[in-house]
Amino acid sequence: MAHSADHAPVPCRFGTSAALTGAIRVPGDKSISHRALMLSALCVGRSRITGLLEGEDVLATAAAMRAMGADVVRDDDGVWTVHGVGVGGLMQPPQALEMGNSGTSTRLLMGLVASHPITAMFTGDASLSRRPMARVTDPLGEMGAQFNASPGGTLPLMVRGISPAVPISYRLPVASAQVKSAILLAALNTPGTTTVIEPVATRDHSEKMLKGFGADLTVETDADGVRHISVTGPCDLKPQNIEVPGDPSSAAFFIVAALIVPGSDLVIENVGMNVTRTGLITVLEQMGGRIERLNERTVGGEPVADLRVRASALHGITVDPAIVPSMVDEFPVFFVAAACASGTTVTSGLDELRVKESDRLATMARGLEAIGVSVKECEDGLVITGSGGVTLRGGGPVATLLDHRIAMSFAIAGLVSQDGVEVDDTAPIATSFPDFLALLESSTGAT
Ligand code: S3P
Repeated sequence: MAHSADHAPVPCRFGTSAALTGAIRVPGDKSISHRALMLSALCVGRSRITGLLEGEDVLATAAAMRAMGADVVRDDDGVWTVHGVGVGGLMQPPQALEMGNSGTSTRLLMGLVASHPITAMFTGDASLSRRPMARVTDPLGEMGAQFNASPGGTLPLMVRGISPAVPISYRLPVASAQVKSAILLAALNTPGTTTVIEPVATRDHSEKMLKGFGADLTVETDADGVRHISVTGPCDLKPQNIEVPGDPSSAAFFIVAALIVPGSDLVIENVGMNVTRTGLITVLEQMGGRIERLNERTVGGEPVADLRVRASALHGITVDPAIVPSMVDEFPVFFVAAACASGTTVTSGLDELRVKESDRLATMARGLEAIGVSVKECEDGLVITGSGGVTLRGGGPVATLLDHRIAMSFAIAGLVSQDGVEVDDTAPIATSFPDFLALLESSTGAT
């Protein structure tokens, strides 16, 4: 079985760089790319997707949709064309669905399989095979699907779907867009109304795109600010042309780089500005970061802007835990910004970071220690005392533990380090941002 865990590690040393200048574009949004492929594959007729992220995670989703009967093709001009099978039309995959490193593919696809009369085996790399799946198998089990998981409720995991599935009303016990989306996707082929109750708002790309494809979906916010998201199935989805905006989670690395590398003045074009994703910008602005939104517009139903980011003297803050869901993937690189700020930055409410591609609190704490940063690891956050704009010591090697965002965060730390930062493995970057190293080189002159 080809696991990306089997790859040979690609170590790399990142040294000080010139200022980041000019204009760059980051690749398409990962969350939106997964959803665009899945929903297109559930339409009868042709959908076209431009700006799709061509990272390993999204390619795992494309391969899975093909294995379940959709025709998914990349044209020479980089446009993706999908001829779907219709809601209810997914076919039995002939072999295991290999998910690589991708939690989003795994959890959302489990939702799709759950309400189809098919059986699918999900496998993944060493990182994904450690991540919790009960958070999706519990609600999908209530809908009637059956699961045979490895000990600890992890992959490899067999899903036996059911049709018709049973509609449920489910209150999310953890703030997770993946769990919400898995249930909403299962609801598409479930007769009756399925409701997800979301006490803490998470990214709403699924809701937006489901509506765009014509699903019968309503969102009501009650007096306590709790969202009730209902889908009445079975739904008939209509093929769409989708333009995927740039990924704010990929832009994050360049936002922080431009803030901390002296003299930088960088424009990052076409960045998704959905408010459920922009917590990092808010927090960096609170720390004194100069980030301007230019040319605000709408792309593919999502707000987008060009960001002008200038080198700034950052100061430490206490991050309000309420903002965590809107920057949940950005904490690794945020910790690098905190390491360069003056004073102390305190974070809390970050329990979910322990079950990402790696335990991101532990991995970041060990890595920051290895490059000379003063950091305290708490149960649900890190406390970081910054350098106040002075270069970091550097060193390493930093262990990335199959986590793309750890590798990219320490690449950025290297840009402001005295001795350079040695990253033990940059190969995982290909899961979400295949051109990262080339883009970093072109915007900084770094090697
Ligand atoms: C994602 C949701 C988040 C995020 C992940 C992508 C999505 O995960 O960390 O990178 O596309 O729905 P959780 O739902 O586990 O918070």
